[in-house]
Amino acid sequence: KGICQNKNFSGVKYMKRSIQLPLALAIAALPCVSAPVFAQSAGDFLVRGGLGHVSPNEKSGDLGGVPGNQVSVGNDSSLALTLAYLLSDNVGVELVGALPFKHDISGAGNLAAAGKVGSTKHLPPTVLAQYYFNPKGAVRPYVGAGINFTWFFGEKTTGALAGTDLKLGNSWGLAGEAGVDIDLGGDWFANASVWYMDIDTKARTALGDATVQIDPWVGFIGLGHRF
Ligand code: NI
Repeated sequence: KGICQNKNFSGVKYMKRSIQLPLALAIAALPCVSAPVFAQSAGDFLVRGGLGHVSPNEKSGDLGGVPGNQVSVGNDSSLALTLAYLLSDNVGVELVGALPFKHDISGAGNLAAAGKVGSTKHLPPTVLAQYYFNPKGAVRPYVGAGINFTWFFGEKTTGALAGTDLKLGNSWGLAGEAGVDIDLGGDWFANASVWYMDIDTKARTALGDATVQIDPWVGFIGLGHRF
């Protein structure tokens, strides 16, 4: 009975010792890593790069006021880049940029049979104020709100509108976002985020003008680095 207890005791003691050594080494190494590696703090820059997908949530006015003469705007993906600066551990300012998105413009309503009638490119630079809920954690969700400017350019016409002019007016509007950074070690992290942008443009076509609300959801997935 005595031997059995003793054996168990030394077994536990051995296990304890085998845990104690790595633990002691880890504690000895702590001064080298004064803060958790995944902590973000005031003064940091966060750069995120990846793929953005613009999915219009559109509503077209009637071209030239003719009921049902409408257009629709297609989806597109492009490389997007965001730069955020942390004013405090929890509050950041973010600039969103991208390579140009190209969208097909098709007839809708009465004009649906026309199919594709043109295309446009746009750049949607956006500035947002951000709030990070868990800046010292490995998973760092945030939300943001700000202003979007969308510059439309490179409009082309084809099909039923071939040879005619197409112009989309630039747009100012509100934008909102929600996202999460997930620590990958070192200063790297993965990011998934979504923006909602209020983009309304005045479309000028050979069939008349109309206001087209594009109001897209923009999904983003990418890699980030903290400087
Ligand atoms: Ni809108």
